[in-house]
Amino acid sequence: MRLKTKLLHRVNTTTTILTDHFGRIHSYLRISITESCNFRCSYCMPTNDYHCLPSAQQMGVDEIESIAKAFVGMGVSKIRLTGGEPLVRRDFADILRRLSALGVEISITTNGFLVDKFLPLFREVGLRSLNLSLDSLDKARFDRITGRNAFDRVWGNALKLLDAGIRVKMNTVALHDTVMDELPRFLDLTKGLPLHVRFIEFMPFAGNGWEHHKVITAAQMLAMVQERYDIVKLKDEPHATAKKYKIVGHEGTFAFITTMSEHFCGSCNRLRVTADGKIKNCLFGKDEFDLLGALRGGEDLAQVIHQAVKAKHPVMGGQFAGGYTQRQAESIENRSMVKIGG
Ligand code: GTP
Ligand code: 5AD
Ligand code: SF4
Repeated sequence: MRLKTKLLHRVNTTTTILTDHFGRIHSYLRISITESCNFRCSYCMPTNDYHCLPSAQQMGVDEIESIAKAFVGMGVSKIRLTGGEPLVRRDFADILRRLSALGVEISITTNGFLVDKFLPLFREVGLRSLNLSLDSLDKARFDRITGRNAFDRVWGNALKLLDAGIRVKMNTVALHDTVMDELPRFLDLTKGLPLHVRFIEFMPFAGNGWEHHKVITAAQMLAMVQERYDIVKLKDEPHATAKKYKIVGHEGTFAFITTMSEHFCGSCNRLRVTADGKIKNCLFGKDEFDLLGALRGGEDLAQVIHQAVKAKHPVMGGQFAGGYTQRQAESIENRSMVKIGG
């Protein structure tokens, strides 16, 4: 009997695997569980036209669990919880517990402010890794970027995570007026700490003031690093967004996320569900597929998921023809970052 169930499961997952028209298999789901955030980073949250999602339009815990189960049944083996800021959601603990029971890899992308409150929960569910945003090591600058007086708490929480044995990837958006100044300080952190610092090229989203000349490319940053340090290139994981390096003798690593200067769409394995239950098949895609509507209407989720995967563009949601220097932020049709979750 048990063998029969096992066989059925295998047939089911192989027949429904999420392959798009370009042969990319989708096994990684990013679920945004809230559009709210306790920070106000200008590169993420639009200064005007920001309205909170009415709770009736937001996925409930049972709905998140049902949607996650549907994806897992179709071959998804990794789920990342994002926001807004996922830890501000009141029922976050319930969501994490339920998704942790699905038997797939779970991770979280957070601004780090509430991490201390959830450390016991992270231990309980066996969370292995977490991505934490930190754009400046200068207190005053950090406060200016985030709109909050929070540097000490976030930095303290990064150290607490490391103490708890949780792998920390630190996300630093390469802001044009700060990154060159801050690079050495971030790199020096990797000397004695097992931290993985990633410098992310500034990307355009609705209302975030992006202009192509504000992009500091990985090549520019790398040239500066090479002048000062002895570095080695590390092997990147198959579907990684980040190109990884190490300073010789340092414990941690550093990396560049090169979305603007060198996209990595050819190996993309990601799908997204927004807090209001829409599938986005690409970070930069304008198309959305109403999964929550289908769930609430008793329709077949698998059909909506397949439709979203089959509609995926080969590169950058089909919105960056000619390269990023040819783009104006207003010509890209998309949500603001706080409503996508990265
Ligand atoms: P892991 O690889 O699971 O560690 O996560 P990640 O680095 O992709 O996720 P994280 O949420 O930490 O995002 C880091 C940066 O990568 C953010 O700026 C995201 O917007 C960007 N990013 C994440 N996924 C994608 C993607 O599919 N495409 C592109 N172009 N950028 C992405
Ligand atoms: N460009 C690049 N990265 C961004 N993030 C948010 N907005 C942008 C942007 N405009 C990053 C944050 C966060 C992750 C989810 O996305 O650093 O860690
Ligand atoms: Fe995938 Fe779109 Fe990101 Fe390219 S831009 S890696 S297609 S999500």
